[in-house]
Amino acid sequence: MTDYILIKKSQIPLFKNIPFFYKTANKEYRLYKKKGDYLDDSRLSSGNHPSMYIHYADKEKARIELTKALNKDFAKKVSEGRLREIRQALTNIVNEALTPGQEKNINSLPETVEILIGRYSKDHAAMALLTQLGSNSSVLIEHTVNVTALVLQFCFFHRLSETDTQQLSMAALVHDIGCAKIEKELIETPKRLTDKQFETYTTHPELGHATIIENTNFDMAIPTVVMEHHERLDGSGYPKGLNRISAYGQLIGLIDSYESLTYRSKLFRKKKKPYESLSIIKDEIYEKKFAKGLFKKFTACLTK
Ligand SMILES: [Fe+2]
Ligand SMILES: [Fe+2]
Repeated sequence: MTDYILIKKSQIPLFKNIPFFYKTANKEYRLYKKKGDYLDDSRLSSGNHPSMYIHYADKEKARIELTKALNKDFAKKVSEGRLREIRQALTNIVNEALTPGQEKNINSLPETVEILIGRYSKDHAAMALLTQLGSNSSVLIEHTVNVTALVLQFCFFHRLSETDTQQLSMAALVHDIGCAKIEKELIETPKRLTDKQFETYTTHPELGHATIIENTNFDMAIPTVVMEHHERLDGSGYPKGLNRISAYGQLIGLIDSYESLTYRSKLFRKKKKPYESLSIIKDEIYEKKFAKGLFKKFTACLTK
């Protein structure tokens, strides 16, 4: 096992309490920044900056400091109100939470949700704008951020209780966390999946459910959504073919479908205009996959 871990360039300015090291030409690690110092942007941008490493023994401390710093950065961006930067900061948090091997980071998400709801508790229009700003991240992260913004749009528009809003936002943020455990090419490919690939893909609700249970003390409603978001009321969904699905599971499933149709092109399918996506889902309602009342509530929040 290597004794030192490389730090992502974009995250270097966020650390204060972790010593940094650089690698010499002889492949020795030397102290660059001691505990208690920041390497701020000006110091970083001046001159030729070497790659920064932390000692393996500091890994857990660094993880905690990073997730706190990302939420602090997010709160700052939220208070400044520039949506593009808010979206980028949220993307950074989701990216860390969905990194395989960093599952404990999921525990920083309730604070993220609190910051978001605290500032936007009545502003569903802001969430609508947030979905219109891509942030150049992976398909999975962009999808997760969009689903979360759409869920909040729904919650604010229909004035759901704070508990419902919190839990639904949390569920949206982690609903596809199981996809992070599946090979990236399969998740990111714009091609139609082969039967075998699809079989692998359909394991993600169970993988995600297990990840949440193992790493958090979240209310069971959240891992339940993770397990249920591809189930459909006519029993045609997966992984279990259920026809009784929790209210949260139905809502996240509906918004998840809408997001995938509207925001993502595949080689075999161009992305749809919002009304086209809604008309596809409407057809699915006649097949009894989604509840009609829920669909109506969702379209209401999109059109206002
Ligand atoms: Fe999914
Ligand atoms: Fe999804």
